[in-house]
Amino acid sequence: MKDRLLRKSVLTIAEFAPVRWLFLKYGMKLGVDRFVAAETLPETLEKVRGLNEEGMHVTLDYLGENVLDSGQAEETAAIISSLFPAIQQLRLQANVSVKLTQLGLRIDRASCLKHMERIVSEAAVSRSFVRIDMEDSTVTQETIDVFRLLLRRFGPGRIGLVLQSYLYRSEQDADQLGAGGTNLRIVKGAYRESPDVAFPDKRDVDAAYTRIVKAHLTKGGYAAVATHDPEIIDTIIRFSKDKGIPRGRFEFQMLYGIAGDLQRDLVRAGYLVRIYTPFGRLWYPYFTRRIAERPANLWFVAKHMLRP
Ligand code: FDA
Repeated sequence: MKDRLLRKSVLTIAEFAPVRWLFLKYGMKLGVDRFVAAETLPETLEKVRGLNEEGMHVTLDYLGENVLDSGQAEETAAIISSLFPAIQQLRLQANVSVKLTQLGLRIDRASCLKHMERIVSEAAVSRSFVRIDMEDSTVTQETIDVFRLLLRRFGPGRIGLVLQSYLYRSEQDADQLGAGGTNLRIVKGAYRESPDVAFPDKRDVDAAYTRIVKAHLTKGGYAAVATHDPEIIDTIIRFSKDKGIPRGRFEFQMLYGIAGDLQRDLVRAGYLVRIYTPFGRLWYPYFTRRIAERPANLWFVAKHMLRP
């Protein structure tokens, strides 16, 4: 309950115009670069190369969400499509994550689907993979609907989805989507949600998380276990060993700039670790979610503000 209230407060304060202004003016200097790789693609690809050299795979996230202008959605689709040849040319170990609202889901679903078809077709040419991030609960059903259409056309080797364990509905969604080796990233959930749709208590969110991953692996699905929670990671490793689930059926995913030691420990232990690496200029909403997850991060930002 306390966690939910803290998250809600941080996300509400972040919407105040003066706070947004301060960050947008001084962003990278206020420590945003801990969580965001870079504002430009060439700098980002250099960071990806560095992560690859440390043995980590990457999923690139071109930042942006809630786009309400169809021209901007189209431009975003073109930029995201161009990532695959760049990744291939540089022989990077990276795939791509997208948000449907950056491709205009809130404007109209048909053109969002068209943009996604273009992106996944481009991914297929490079034998790459696209993951649809899950946003707030106002778009959960539409996101699942678009995912199902793409899954039917491109198959689980090209397209995957995220489910959030804080939503009451997600266990059932995972169960319905689970057949046929579906590739699901399981996260706890990062948005401000009401108790009508999401568990208010963190213990319930954590318990649902492990239940969903275990059930999905048991069903034969591929799981991207996306968390920095060491207890959950241990539980999943023990579960996979007990049930004889091969390492090729799951991977661990963490966010750029968070829990570096844990990332490196898992790589050393021989697990596939993929780092969610956001880049671009539209970092504000992403950054505020990272602060809301762990308000102690505010001290980290304050230290940057006090730096000469
Ligand atoms: P939890 O919040 O319990 O944190 C466990 C530990 O991790 C903390 O004690 C702390 O040490 C560390 N930690 C967590 N967050 C931190 C932070 N911001 N700064 C510093 N340390 C931190 N959400 C969503 O709604 N839709 C999505 O599509 C995605 N996609 C996504 C991809 C990947 C690869 C990851 C790892 C996460 C997401 N998320 C997401 C975010 C997710 O929902 C969740 O908010 C965060 O992962 C934080 O939850 P944890 O599972 O880490 O657990």
